Amino acid sequence: MLNWDEFHEDDSAVAEPPQAQAVPTPAAEPQPAAPQRETVAETRGSYRVAEGDRLARARQSLEELDVAAGLEELEMGAARIEVDDKQMINARADLNQLVPFKYEWAWQKYLDGSANHWMPQEVNMNADIALWKSQDGLTADERRIVERSLGYFSTADSLVANNLVLALYRLITNPECRQYLLRQAFEEAIHTHAYQYCVESLSMDEGAVFNMYREVPSVAAKSAWSLKHTQSLARPDFQTGTPETDQELLRNLVAFYCVTEGIFFYCGFSQILSMGRRNKMTGVAEQFQYILRDESMHLNFGVDMINQIKIENPHLWTPEFQDEVTQMILEGTELEIAYARDTMPRGVLGMNAAIMEEYLHFICNRRLAQIGLKEQFPGAQNPFPWMSEIIDLRKEKNFFETRVTEYQVGGALSWD
Ligand SMILES: [Fe+2]
Ligand SMILES: [Fe+2]
Repeated sequence: MLNWDEFHEDDSAVAEPPQAQAVPTPAAEPQPAAPQRETVAETRGSYRVAEGDRLARARQSLEELDVAAGLEELEMGAARIEVDDKQMINARADLNQLVPFKYEWAWQKYLDGSANHWMPQEVNMNADIALWKSQDGLTADERRIVERSLGYFSTADSLVANNLVLALYRLITNPECRQYLLRQAFEEAIHTHAYQYCVESLSMDEGAVFNMYREVPSVAAKSAWSLKHTQSLARPDFQTGTPETDQELLRNLVAFYCVTEGIFFYCGFSQILSMGRRNKMTGVAEQFQYILRDESMHLNFGVDMINQIKIENPHLWTPEFQDEVTQMILEGTELEIAYARDTMPRGVLGMNAAIMEEYLHFICNRRLAQIGLKEQFPGAQNPFPWMSEIIDLRKEKNFFETRVTEYQVGGALSWD
């Protein structure tokens, strides 16, 4: 630990660069009880000076550093980046330079996401714990919904995070989009934390919850569908640059942003938020409310990425490919409807599987329209208008006002 009292004591404690000839020969090795030659040489003041070999090797390594051997090659003296050099995929422009911005929407979403920062421990779970432990606080159907929701989401956000970090990130060749992807990856970590925090607070069976994605069929089917779309992109040798591989990247974006985050989350979210509206499990519902706001931004970011890639690469968006993407979104909708039936064998919380089916048809239409595809359920209505109000940040600005202020104050350090 730093000791400020010692700071001014002895200026001579500054390390002197060791001379090459000062490296001891093996004959001068200390006795066995002494420190290893490579580890430390001598102690001066409160710190130790690395001995010759290690420091000499470090200097040698720096002399041999190939400045063109980074992840993105450094081209010394190359022309400065122009905005038009930037592209969503297959860009040749330097990926280490955030500015000049080309996609203002990406940077704005990064700012908006950061302004809505929150942590799971800020939510009071006491009322939920009391209700969960009481014998007649919740019906069996309501308990089933809480368990299934935590079971699905506790691993689903890990699937999304792994897709971002292990498959998608390297293939999106734009620094401001990557900046948002890094923010999103952190938010996914917070979401997984929130589910874990709920499970721990309620003393639920962790093994049962975290294994539900491979033990309960309606949950497993959704997880397996998402995972299937990570696998090809996560191969180390996968590269974009051909129409086929670029379309594979688009499939991944549709699978994760439009379907996983855009459809698979909506039955569970509306069930838990409906519970909160009935003053039950209000802590869990508040966590889900924060998460839903993050997720709606993830979804909108994904839609913007897909549409931008379409603009820059119109040859990818063939009629056949549009059919395929429509099919993917319909598959996702069917899986979510099956999940709704499994989690609501009877009416509960003012909803049932049939009403949820209409809601999911409405959501499906929205996802198709957002990426320029034809709606498949004309006339489907939204039976849960309150969900739209929760999602819309502008309508409930007060919800975040105190938190935004809190974090801004927390970040403004005072040295007085
Ligand atoms: Fe998430
Ligand atoms: Fe997300």
